[in-house]
Amino acid sequence: MQQGPILAFDVGGSFVKAGLVNLGTGTVEGEVLRRPTPAGATPSDVVDLLASMARDLPSSGPVGLAFPAVTKRGVAWTAANIDKRWVGTNAQALLEARIGRPVAFLNDADAAGIAEITLGAGKGREGTVMLLTLGTGIGTAIFVDGRLLPNTELGHLEVRGEEAEHRASAKVKSDLNLGWSEWAAALNEVLEAYHRLLWPDLFIIGGGVTENWEKFGSLLRSRAEIVPAHFRNDAGIIGAAMAAATTTRGAGP
Ligand code: BGC
Repeated sequence: MQQGPILAFDVGGSFVKAGLVNLGTGTVEGEVLRRPTPAGATPSDVVDLLASMARDLPSSGPVGLAFPAVTKRGVAWTAANIDKRWVGTNAQALLEARIGRPVAFLNDADAAGIAEITLGAGKGREGTVMLLTLGTGIGTAIFVDGRLLPNTELGHLEVRGEEAEHRASAKVKSDLNLGWSEWAAALNEVLEAYHRLLWPDLFIIGGGVTENWEKFGSLLRSRAEIVPAHFRNDAGIIGAAMAAATTTRGAGP
């Protein structure tokens, strides 16, 4: 069993975050490092950055890596908001070779969802729970009675002729300089489209923009309950650490 905190990364289209996660308490120990994603975000540049952040956060044991792509058995299969050279790259093997530690590689929204369903806003919730991460894109994670359906990618679902993440991500809000109510209206259409197809019981809203929950939370509407992510912007790091602890290739049970 892993003793100390677990190092985990959350790679985003705009920033890479890293932290040491105490799984006993479900919290990040010390500060969350946040560095801009290298321009171009090629695999080698990103792995260089991860290795240097790992040096800044001394730890041992397995490492979690949350990534904005479809991930299967260590390989990234899409690259909507990251360099296209990631497609087909075994990111897990690349980072393992670089830092000499086992790596759990998973989709960023799935990672955030794992944190929320295990210890956060979805803890103990039965039925269908859908988490959204609102950042550069929109990530989705769906759980049924606590069990994840991985790689759902519903940020790319077309809503009124345009991908959901091109209408209602946090990046769209800042790029188009939308006010909270205008942006919330676009997000409500996305929630309605998801609800029409999946009938979730609960939506959990995550991503950095939830730091402003009091400005937009009350504007969101759905027939499903809507709550902010308990771990806010740290959910991806915490969930990636949980995945690292339980991966068979790591030091977990
Ligand atoms: C990607 C997803 C990711 C989401 C949030 C989307 O563009 O396709 O894999 O979860 O952005 O980062």
